[in-house]
Amino acid sequence: MPSRKRRDPRLSDFFRTRVPALRNLLQTVGKVLDHDVPILIRGESGTGKDRLAQAIHACSVRREKPFVEIDCPSIPVELFESEIFGHEKGTFTDAHARKLGKLEAAGEGTVYFDEISALTPPLQAKLLRALQEKSFTRLGGNDVVPFKARVIVSTSADIETILAAGTFRRDLFYRINVVTVTMPPLRERAEDIPALVAEFVGRRRKVDDEAMSLLTAHPWPGNVRELRNVLERGVLVSEGNLTADAFPLQAQELVAAAARGEWSLERLEAAYIREVLRATRSNFSRAAEILGINRKTLLEKRRKYGIE
Ligand SMILES: Nc1ncnc2c1ncn2[C@@H]1O[C@H](COP(=O)(O)OP(=O)(O)O)[C@@H](O)[C@H]1O
Ligand SMILES: [Mg+2]
Repeated sequence: MPSRKRRDPRLSDFFRTRVPALRNLLQTVGKVLDHDVPILIRGESGTGKDRLAQAIHACSVRREKPFVEIDCPSIPVELFESEIFGHEKGTFTDAHARKLGKLEAAGEGTVYFDEISALTPPLQAKLLRALQEKSFTRLGGNDVVPFKARVIVSTSADIETILAAGTFRRDLFYRINVVTVTMPPLRERAEDIPALVAEFVGRRRKVDDEAMSLLTAHPWPGNVRELRNVLERGVLVSEGNLTADAFPLQAQELVAAAARGEWSLERLEAAYIREVLRATRSNFSRAAEILGINRKTLLEKRRKYGIE
């Protein structure tokens, strides 16, 4: 059978969005995919910075070359230089052999510094030198190793504050602040929520309208990561389609969502009663007390609204 030529991946394969801010961002990045300039990705935690870095690599001409991620906060300071630049045999007690650093491992691919603000100022200075000279030396060595990888950097820190405080070097910032994009928080992407929800719950499960209006109204401080976790949990705790009961959301949000969705008082009442019954694990006396009605009224309303 003749093999069909697969088309090259595009950024829009990784981010399906209707939100103008994110569309513009993808367009900006798309223009510099194959340029050698560094890309700085800003944005709150969970907005998709790592995903964008991976997408950039996968869509660039470097896609067949390595993608090397350096999770800056997780590397102990004393190991950092050797991790990044490598070391020669015998440089320190445990250096039994030459070790290639991550920059060297990235070769002509892409190196991604995740949460770069975690680097200490001396390391920032060393990285800046490597960027400027387009080369570096391994620890304890003299060989000049060329630095050919594409550089992508991310941060969720408030850069202006860390620059002012002096914990992030201005010279390094100027060097990496060439093409800078900011991932929008999920609360500014409400139109994208239904599509993300569908992706995370999978094809076989659906989310009902009431649950969907709750999900679209939630402010998602943890952004797409939080949405994904909440849905994965929802899929585990419920059978069949997902209802509002599957999500641990606040009554206040329920009211806000109801107002936006133009719910009737009856519909809101039904949702509220359901929530209180869930919170009390169907302890009718306790639920009636919370709702401020007697037990008999609660049982009537429960029957009327068909609450399990
Ligand atoms: N547009 C998207 N579509 C599907 N999943 C996404 C999208 N954006 C982010 N994610 C997922 O959300 C989670 C957090 O994304 P990540 O890139 O790690 O965020 P950050 O690096 O900004 O903290 C990951 O599981 C990622 O795959
Ligand atoms: Mg990240």
